[in-house]
Amino acid sequence: MSVPPVEIKRGLEGVVFTETNLSSIDGDAGKLTYCGFDIVDLAAHTSYEETAFLLWYQRLPAAEELQMLANWLRANRTLPKMVWGIMHSLPEKATPMEGLRTIASTLSIFDRACIHEELGGASLCRSVSLTAKLPTIVASFDRLRRNRPPLEPRADLGHAANLLWMLNGTEPHERSVQALETYLVLLAEHGMNASTFSARVTASTLGDVYSAVVTALGTLKGPLHGGAAQKAMEDLMEIGSIENVDPWFEGKMATGQRMFGFGHRVYKAEDPRATILRELAHQAALGSGMTKWYDIAARLEERVLASPYFKERKLYTNVDFYTAPLLAALGIPVDLFIPMFAVARIAGWTAHVLEQEQHNRLIRPRAYYAGPRDRAWVMREERTPAVEADAERKSVAGRLAGCPAALRVPPQFWPDALPDAG
Ligand code: CMC
Repeated sequence: MSVPPVEIKRGLEGVVFTETNLSSIDGDAGKLTYCGFDIVDLAAHTSYEETAFLLWYQRLPAAEELQMLANWLRANRTLPKMVWGIMHSLPEKATPMEGLRTIASTLSIFDRACIHEELGGASLCRSVSLTAKLPTIVASFDRLRRNRPPLEPRADLGHAANLLWMLNGTEPHERSVQALETYLVLLAEHGMNASTFSARVTASTLGDVYSAVVTALGTLKGPLHGGAAQKAMEDLMEIGSIENVDPWFEGKMATGQRMFGFGHRVYKAEDPRATILRELAHQAALGSGMTKWYDIAARLEERVLASPYFKERKLYTNVDFYTAPLLAALGIPVDLFIPMFAVARIAGWTAHVLEQEQHNRLIRPRAYYAGPRDRAWVMREERTPAVEADAERKSVAGRLAGCPAALRVPPQFWPDALPDAG
């Protein structure tokens, strides 16, 4: 392949495409701030509702203002009645993340009459609505799949406490509420991470808040991003005991596999959220009376960080690693880890959409064309097939595989009778 005459940044690393007032990351110092406030202070002093206010309005609220926003959020937690029918009709094997993405998407259909549409502020209104409803979707989906009736949200409870209530149907323990609240604050915003970037791309087309959030939900799911905590937990479960940490880690290293919960595109020091989550996970584990996952995680971290491979590459613990034992100690099912991340990050996503709308320009980068040029046209009957025809062709799952990806399916699965493409 010829060397392109332009520098290609496949991961857009180091590319700055906009300015933001929302958060700042110093990757070398391991420092994170939201609107100028250190994440350490935010974790210690603020609630998720207050963090959302900070991100949407870019200032701290006075007490009355916070109360107004809290009331606004709490009044928006209930899902439209029609959504329940859709939720009930989801196939049994739908994952919580698929459920969340689908239901979040349908919410836009039931939101045709925002009173702010003409007065301005519709995007903020929708941001509040989505932020309030995501926990209801996650908890309701989880209860339904466990054959338990979904619970009404409780307006007397804050964001984290209400989520625990809706998941479990028991009065949430103050210690768990505090831990979950801090987790939500820590994960609320993080600069131009992949899901936030994707939300901004959608917003830049003048797409609506719902579309931007659904885009972000799809992007969050991957294991290199928000899916990493679930993977880290699955690793801890596969390890299963402290004694198995060393052989397991050596096996992973020998086969060149990635360690989930380590490494970061921006941090070349410890992720400051990991520092807080480590202690939070420890306390939550002690509080739950089950320290197994935390203990295995701590031992694994020790092995990973001591390894020359990780030292040389400046790969440190990231936010997702201690999220795993923390959420496990709070009794959150493993496949709800990504939805929990979404419940936290929605404030950041929507704040970025609002920011994008203020100074919008269509985000539209370019790719270097590396394919062949100036090819001579060949008539169809003169072309030689690149794959061998098979007499015993079958259709995929009994249906015509009419999508372009069919060409990647081995020939024996090709449909019998595609309509003449003539
Ligand atoms: N385990 C093993 N090797 C790693 C890891 C890891 N977790 N992370 C990076 N490396 C290696 C990578 O293979 C490369 O090695 P070499 O120089 O020999 O080719 C070197 O370190 C540099 O890595 P990179 O791939 O250039 O780094 P990146 O900036 O593209 O990747 C990352 C960042 C987060 C995708 C990566 O560190 C990773 O895959 N980590 C595991 C998944 C994970 O924990 N993701 C959560 C990220 S933080 C929160 C979030 O976004 O949700």
